[in-house]
Amino acid sequence: MTDLYSEALQRFEQVYTQAREYGISEYNAMSLATVDGQGRPDVRVVLLKDFDAAGFVFYTNCQSAKGEQLQHNPHAALCFFWRQLYLQVRLDGRVEPVSEAEADAYFATRARGSQIGAWASAQSRPLASRGVLEQLMQEYAAKFANRDVPRPPHWSGYRLKPRRIEFWVGLENRLHERTLYSLAAGQWQRGLLNP
Ligand SMILES: Cc1cc2nc3c(=O)[nH]c(=O)nc-3n(C[C@H](O)[C@H](O)[C@H](O)COP(=O)(O)O)c2cc1C
Repeated sequence: MTDLYSEALQRFEQVYTQAREYGISEYNAMSLATVDGQGRPDVRVVLLKDFDAAGFVFYTNCQSAKGEQLQHNPHAALCFFWRQLYLQVRLDGRVEPVSEAEADAYFATRARGSQIGAWASAQSRPLASRGVLEQLMQEYAAKFANRDVPRPPHWSGYRLKPRRIEFWVGLENRLHERTLYSLAAGQWQRGLLNP
């Protein structure tokens, strides 16, 4: 890890901690942008569950729209905005699945209802009615009664390894401060961008 990459991660940790300590609800919510097989962009909010030098981790249904898009094109972008702090952080890079062991460990920490929900919901697929989903919830609750809910094989996590990290600090007269850390030819660089 180069010094500039560790500097960027430390800076992320600083603002992330600031957002949490400020009491911002869903401070770990981030927009995740992916691209489909036709090159069309798609974006939705997911929760950051872990980050370190290896990358930024979120969990989802791998057969969802985002899961299929990541299979076609493993490049993705993340964007955080903490309004109360007037801070934005953007990242992009290549995404890889987390290990089975890592996904199992995280799944085990989820509330039982969410674990059963992961089995019941064919995320992103059409749903005939809420009743169908409720029925499936009951069926899986019965199936896993009196035992731990195993992680569904189609439910796991992805880790985005950043290639660029931009810190945007909102300032007066729209003269915001933008600092971009980027990886070029294997070297991390740091520079300012016009607002
Ligand atoms: C605050 C918030 C947090 C969310 N967190 C997640 C998450 O961590 N994982 C996930 O799969 N969906 C999460 N969602 C739902 C997604 O935004 C989205 O509806 C779902 O993943 C389906 O997206 P897709 O059809 O593009 O794959 C969250 C939504 C909100 C508003």
